Amino acid sequence: MTDRPQPKPGILDISPYKPGKAAVEGVAHPLKLSANENILGSSPEAKTAFASAIDELHLYPDGRCNALREAISAKYGLEPERLLFGCGSDEIFQLIGQTFLQPGDNAIQGEHGFGAFAIATRAAGGEVRMAREIDLRIDVDELLACVDERTRIVWVANPANPTGTLVKGSEIRRLHAALPADVVLVLDGAYAEFAEDPDFEDGVDLVRNFSNVIMTR
Ligand SMILES: Cc1ncc(COP(=O)(O)O)c(C=O)c1O
Repeated sequence: MTDRPQPKPGILDISPYKPGKAAVEGVAHPLKLSANENILGSSPEAKTAFASAIDELHLYPDGRCNALREAISAKYGLEPERLLFGCGSDEIFQLIGQTFLQPGDNAIQGEHGFGAFAIATRAAGGEVRMAREIDLRIDVDELLACVDERTRIVWVANPANPTGTLVKGSEIRRLHAALPADVVLVLDGAYAEFAEDPDFEDGVDLVRNFSNVIMTR
């Protein structure tokens, strides 16, 4: 017995999340993109909707997010039953970790990968495996070299933050094809709107055709 409650293994290995810098020396008005915030501000329609909800703050919101589900399905041409909503992608990453990782399992990410992936992995008792990035780019062969029989998740932010680099659709498909069917491939598209490369693919086709792919936005 110990003299105080002990968190389960992995929890104390979590390094606190470090937000990106909001100030840059010598730059008067830097644009901070590292938290995926809208530097243009909220749309006037979102502000109006927020203000009109003021009289219902004492009630729980619709847990299934039906209005949002319908709107997003219509805008992006997605099947509504595929969608899962969270308080930002981070909550979804936590759910993915808790759902698929057992202590002793591992999850793979690029060495400069988003900090929230490692937090979700460790919180679920998983081992974080960092694949080498070459020229600040996710390399499919380096990811695959980290896979073993205890691998349950591969996290890929595409385009990546903070490196700003992108993995072409053909490479993501090659990665998926080489992964065992019981490994979840998470395609984090938080920055997908910035991808101008014609070879970029958002991963919706993979999500539709295979049961081991999750896309987050
Ligand atoms: C790579 C990456 N993925 C996901 C997120 C989370 O984005 P959001 O909270 O908008 O879902 C961020 C935010 O910093 C990010 O940098």
